[in-house]
Amino acid sequence: MDRADLETAFRLQAGICQYLGSPFYQALMTTALADVRADGRVAQLLDGWSGDPVRAFLPLRLFGAVHEIVLAGAAPALARYYPTMGGTADPDAAWPAFLDVLVQHPDRVHETLQRFPQTNEVRRSAGLLGGFLEVARRTGLPLRLRELGCSAGLNLQWRRYRYRLGPHVWGDRDSGVAIEAEWDGPPPHLASLPEIESRAGCDLDPRPIDDENAVRRLESYVWADQPERLQQLRAAIRVAREDPPRVDHASAAEWLAAELSAPPPGVCTVVYHSSVWNYLPPEEQDRVRGHLEAAGRAASAGQPLAWLRHEDTGELGAVEIRLQLWPDGEERLLGLGHPHGRRVEWYETTSR
Ligand SMILES: C[S@@+](CC[C@H](N)C(=O)[O-])C[C@H]1O[C@@H](n2cnc3c(N)ncnc32)[C@H](O)[C@@H]1O
Repeated sequence: MDRADLETAFRLQAGICQYLGSPFYQALMTTALADVRADGRVAQLLDGWSGDPVRAFLPLRLFGAVHEIVLAGAAPALARYYPTMGGTADPDAAWPAFLDVLVQHPDRVHETLQRFPQTNEVRRSAGLLGGFLEVARRTGLPLRLRELGCSAGLNLQWRRYRYRLGPHVWGDRDSGVAIEAEWDGPPPHLASLPEIESRAGCDLDPRPIDDENAVRRLESYVWADQPERLQQLRAAIRVAREDPPRVDHASAAEWLAAELSAPPPGVCTVVYHSSVWNYLPPEEQDRVRGHLEAAGRAASAGQPLAWLRHEDTGELGAVEIRLQLWPDGEERLLGLGHPHGRRVEWYETTSR
């Protein structure tokens, strides 16, 4: 791996952490960058890794590896500075303890460096919700939910959360999960109360919610000075354990082909995904699109098909929420989102 690429990866990630409200990780990423420039411990640890450190989010892999060890209770000296463990975010004091973890646990760190960072951010349901409500309004049918890249399946249970979207409220008042997001623009179609016909998702590497280690790995990619995200993740896992959705171990395109092969009449199949599209290789993106277009041609008013996306555009912080609905196949930009679901800028949808 080229050292210059590694420096770029840490520099970019420090900027992203700053933009997404993690000053603690921003400071630690900046210190790690200085370490790489000085050929320090981080540089030496990562030297044997091969691949593109920017595209692979290598800094997030490293920080996830360390956080996982902290969450497991195996790094008490560092836990004192990790807010997710009740510590105070002090990056200068944390750094020597961070380096110690790398020295004490090289095998665990190296194992995690081979794996892609994997989150399941339930607040993305804030942006997806407006799309689901719009589909329900336009079709008037129960929804058959099919999520690609669903991780632990926590956004398959969006119907069971309560929402406060700026001034607007929606959902189950007694839910253990409260989704709060800033909301600009007109409200979504709050009068819709969709019935859910069924829920299922797939993931290349699903996170079983009854497996403590799988859950800890999921938790480890939450940034250590964002404990509210960790609390929300844990709350959503508790809700999921009451009535887990079906999560299949499969790649998106092949799974989707099977799920679209015989859609039941009288329901609207909603295929959706968030923060997944850029993970799919271009040929798999083409196959997913091809399956949807073929199923769209076979759709009818009594058997419609929706494709809802909450996906990064590639520009820092830019997320689009798009909906395509068949049988007419019209595609609309419903609004703009946020990588972690903190904000939604909604466009008028209810006039049509
Ligand atoms: C950033 S996570 C987003 C998870 C979830 N959609 C969310 O919004 O919280 C990306 C997910 O896509 C999954 N993934 C990546 N490539 C995939 C593929 N080809 N087929 C299915 N899932 C895939 C990963 O395993 C990971 O769980």
